Amino acid sequence: MLIPSFAILAFFSGVGFCKLYEDVADLPALQYDFVVVGGGTAGLVVASRLTENSSVSVLVLEAGPSNVGVLDAQVPFLADGVANNGTPYSWNYSTIPQTGAANHVFEYLRGEVYTWWMQLAQQDGLAYTRGAAEDFDRYANLTGDEGWSWNKIFPYFLKNERWTAPADHHDTHGQYNPAVHGTDGPIQVSISGFSWSEFEQHVIQTTEQLPHDFPFNLDMNSGKPLGIGWFQYTIGGGERSSSATGYLTPAVLRRPNLDILLHAQVSKLVNVTQSRVVPAEPLAFRGVEFKYGSSLHVAKASKEIILSAGPIGTPQILLNSGVGDRTALTALGISTVLDLPGVGKNASEHPYFGMSWAVNSNQTVESITQNATRYNEAFAEWNRSHTGPFVDPTPGTHAGWLRLRANSSVFDIHPDPSPGPDAPHFEMIFQPFGFAGTPGHFISLTMAMVSPVSRGSVTLSSADPFATPLIDLGLFSNEFDALALTEGIQFALKFVTAPTWNGYLGAPTVDLTSMSPAELTAYIRAHSGPGVPRYPDLKVKGFAGLRVIDASVLPIVPGAHTQAATYVVAERGADLVKHSWS
Ligand SMILES: *[C@@H]1O[C@H](CO)[C@@H](O)[C@H](O)[C@H]1NC(C)=O
Ligand SMILES: *[C@@H]1O[C@H](CO)[C@@H](O)[C@H](O)[C@H]1NC(C)=O
Ligand SMILES: *[C@@H]1O[C@H](CO)[C@@H](O)[C@H](O)[C@H]1NC(C)=O
Ligand SMILES: *[C@@H]1O[C@H](CO)[C@@H](O)[C@H](O)[C@H]1NC(C)=O
Ligand SMILES: *[C@@H]1O[C@H](CO)[C@@H](O)[C@H](O)[C@H]1NC(C)=O
Ligand SMILES: *[C@@H]1O[C@H](CO)[C@@H](O)[C@H](O)[C@H]1NC(C)=O
Ligand SMILES: *[C@@H]1O[C@H](CO)[C@@H](O)[C@H](O)[C@H]1NC(C)=O
Ligand SMILES: *[C@@H]1O[C@H](CO)[C@@H](O)[C@H](O)[C@H]1NC(C)=O
Ligand SMILES: *[C@@H]1O[C@H](CO)[C@@H](O)[C@H](O)[C@H]1NC(C)=O
Repeated sequence: MLIPSFAILAFFSGVGFCKLYEDVADLPALQYDFVVVGGGTAGLVVASRLTENSSVSVLVLEAGPSNVGVLDAQVPFLADGVANNGTPYSWNYSTIPQTGAANHVFEYLRGEVYTWWMQLAQQDGLAYTRGAAEDFDRYANLTGDEGWSWNKIFPYFLKNERWTAPADHHDTHGQYNPAVHGTDGPIQVSISGFSWSEFEQHVIQTTEQLPHDFPFNLDMNSGKPLGIGWFQYTIGGGERSSSATGYLTPAVLRRPNLDILLHAQVSKLVNVTQSRVVPAEPLAFRGVEFKYGSSLHVAKASKEIILSAGPIGTPQILLNSGVGDRTALTALGISTVLDLPGVGKNASEHPYFGMSWAVNSNQTVESITQNATRYNEAFAEWNRSHTGPFVDPTPGTHAGWLRLRANSSVFDIHPDPSPGPDAPHFEMIFQPFGFAGTPGHFISLTMAMVSPVSRGSVTLSSADPFATPLIDLGLFSNEFDALALTEGIQFALKFVTAPTWNGYLGAPTVDLTSMSPAELTAYIRAHSGPGVPRYPDLKVKGFAGLRVIDASVLPIVPGAHTQAATYVVAERGADLVKHSWS
């Protein structure tokens, strides 16, 4: 994709971002009630909600730079570029070779602009999908806490959300269900604001021509996601809506009880004490050690330390602090504070497989990405009026949520991993562009296995807290996932057999139909990539004043992009913290 040389512009300079500290020397103190580690999606929600109480002080430590002036972080169409490895906003992490996926090493995309949800990856950035009601009811069941059930969590979805008209103000009647959306929360959510009408019509007509396999679903965020519907994004007025824009408004930033320090990379939790308060939680960390420039500092938390550092950062910090598997820690020379073998285990990942076809049309994203004149025009239009193709991210116009057939032989390998009959095994994403990057016009269908059985891990490579951790996604380590995805591909191939595609669809870039099922499975293993890793329950038992508030507290990855779930975890998490200190 072309990236204009003027991609970094100081749009917001001059706006009063006075409480975002660029230098540790400017911080008024290093003693707070709460220290929040990580200024991503969850961390900023927690910080914003806790400081609603003016007698509570909060410090957020964020490793990345500010979003100020980072145009890629504002323009939805450019969103994919920011977390790419090799940019200043990335950790440049990669996985260890994935034996289940032909030994491929994948870049682990983890944008660290504080604006950003750290789970930003190509497919995931701005998608707003809540998952199935059954996902949350299963969390309630697994945790024994009814507060995680869909009915109890639903008000938090509404509290977080502000449904917003799309940038082109088109009639959205019949494209979503207003009854399941919030209207006054901090995060703007909308349907695409630029139409790829020809492609969209073929997708919608397929739901009419093959309704048995591909029924239309008015709103995939109702708790019953199955079917094909219009994608919803965290976008408002043609700009990305994020924790930073929604929860860290200028008014919140001016709160005297909230400080945010940028460029502060947390190494570990320190100053462990015996807690006298709660016998069941005998230990407490009082300090958070972080590196600023080349020097180490400690921020003290008198009430709680809240880890919102995401699926890699959170376990890495716990392990660095001596909280983890004793044998592994001892082998690295790290002394164990508490032997918790589960830390960093059970990582799971949605494997993605994309298929592209040439099309007999000029109305694809390539008309912009392969034409510098058009690209510059589109950018200027966004800059002028926040309209045009740059108001949307490139991932897709629609998504479909599908289940394996009930009689599928893959259930002989493993029982159904989905949380119930109304929850998906697959997500299918519909995209008006190709993946090959070759000249011409293409469309793509991407299949993701959203109820994976494979599990991976995050472990330390050394006692150096700043060393890159070993990230193993465990991609396709369980045969179930590869065979299930092979069946999922058949759904995509069936989708394009609807009559509406005749005359529009050309040749596929790879002919999957000529492969035997075994060849197809091998091909999928070799050509699938990760979406984003997630973690199950990391509740830090044994410690007073230490919580994890990010998507990693969900015991099993929801069958969805996790941005929406991260918001409700953070909103409820903030309420739980408030409740225990009021
Ligand atoms: C990632 O690589 C880029 C380009 O080399 C660099 O600017 C950035 O600082 C790196 N990120 C980290 C966390 O080292
Ligand atoms: C979890 O679900 C099982 C099976 O439906 C049920 O027997 C059990 O009581 C549930 N547990 C909780 C805590 O809801
Ligand atoms: C807290 O931990 C830091 C880093 O290990 C150490 O330098 C400092 O002395 C400790 N403070 C107290 C009061 O123990
Ligand atoms: C990992 O997940 C499995 C099943 O989901 C569970 O039985 C196991 O206890 C988990 N292990 C850890 C360390 O959390
Ligand atoms: C695509 O654009 C080219 C150049 O503008 C034009 O010649 C051609 O007819 C167009 N093709 C289609 C299918 O619209
Ligand atoms: C490139 O875009 C310009 C401006 O929209 C248009 O006039 C021109 O025909 C396009 N070129 C091709 C090859 O489609
Ligand atoms: C964007 O708009 C500003 C004025 O609002 C202008 O100075 C700048 O040149 C524009 N940039 C582009 C690429 O059009
Ligand atoms: C599985 O069910 C589908 C209908 O849902 C049917 O077409 C197919 O033949 C069945 N396959 C087997 C192996 O029974
Ligand atoms: C605000 O925080 C203080 C100190 O923790 C607490 O005593 C008070 O109850 C809180 N107020 C509310 C409305 O929660």
